[in-house]
Amino acid sequence: MAQKQKKLKVKKKSVLILVGIILLLLLINPTISFIRLAIKGYSIQSSFEIIINGGAGSALDKKYSKTLNNIASTKYFSGKKVKKYLSIDYYDYKDFNKNVSSWLKLGYSSEDINEINKKKDDVLINLSSNNYVENITEYLKVPYFKSENLLRYNTYFTGNYEDTVIDVNIGIDKGYYNDPVIVSEFSYTMLVNKYNKLDDNFVPTDLTELTKCSGKKQYLAGEAKLAYDELCDASLKDGMHLGITSSYRSHEDQEDTYDEEVRKNGKEYADEYVAQPGFSEHETGLTIDVKSTEASPFRITKEYQWMLENAYKYGFILRYPKGKETKTGYEAEEWHFRYVGKEIAAYIQENDITYEEYCAMFF
Ligand code: DAL
Ligand code: ZN
Repeated sequence: MAQKQKKLKVKKKSVLILVGIILLLLLINPTISFIRLAIKGYSIQSSFEIIINGGAGSALDKKYSKTLNNIASTKYFSGKKVKKYLSIDYYDYKDFNKNVSSWLKLGYSSEDINEINKKKDDVLINLSSNNYVENITEYLKVPYFKSENLLRYNTYFTGNYEDTVIDVNIGIDKGYYNDPVIVSEFSYTMLVNKYNKLDDNFVPTDLTELTKCSGKKQYLAGEAKLAYDELCDASLKDGMHLGITSSYRSHEDQEDTYDEEVRKNGKEYADEYVAQPGFSEHETGLTIDVKSTEASPFRITKEYQWMLENAYKYGFILRYPKGKETKTGYEAEEWHFRYVGKEIAAYIQENDITYEEYCAMFF
């Protein structure tokens, strides 16, 4: 009997030892992990959260991550996302943890999140943490990217990221005359087109009457007038005979020009060649319609060729070139030149782009 009791005691003891060993083993692993995480630099609270949420293995495989350390002690932490946190660079701003959590939930990759944060742009951060934009990194790589247009890029996407960015920056996705930007200030680089409308009270600065290569009562803004004088002198030296058919038009003049074209050829045709009042560059005092005083139509004259090759040297560009109708919104007009200044004109000439594209890229 005593033997049986002794045996039972031994058995009990063995079970207890076994349970003890199991408990020890259960505790020893997390304890080691805890120590290792702490050695790597994780805080006590973060190490604890990482371990109980099953992220210790991943965290220990990689070097210390400030992002993981930060988010692990917040309500935004998810044990399943430890691998992703480990590849996200840390940025020190108020909503970093909240945004990381939103971006991951929306489906952005760690690389996307790094690229977004790298821009340090509040508008971009706000839009992207509330909306998923497929391949956002591709848009961010385009040098002309504008954060405020992010969602429009996504909606309008043409199949090419750079083209999409430029087209949307121009306003092409909005459609003609639809919700235009209102332009109030005069400047020699101002852009007026079917997406940018002049304020009703707009008047150009320093309108000056042209005195060379022009008929009477033609006006341009001061600097553009001086540039046209220079262009005129050079053209005369080269044996050209340039004249002007139209330059500055008041809002009322433009109204008359447009109405007349509609009367003659209908609205659809008029909209391809004549700007609606408020949307015309002629109202800025920066534009000339040129002619040859010897021959017509202008496109077959030597003066046209001369203008194509030389106008940029004096700061003028051909404003509505053939083949660029989708960018400018107008059919080709060989006679319509615009003063933008020498530097911009040279860039446009060299790169064969329109003023719409130039502004979409650099303004
Ligand atoms: N012909 C150009 C587009 C204008 O009317 O301003
Ligand atoms: Zn014109």
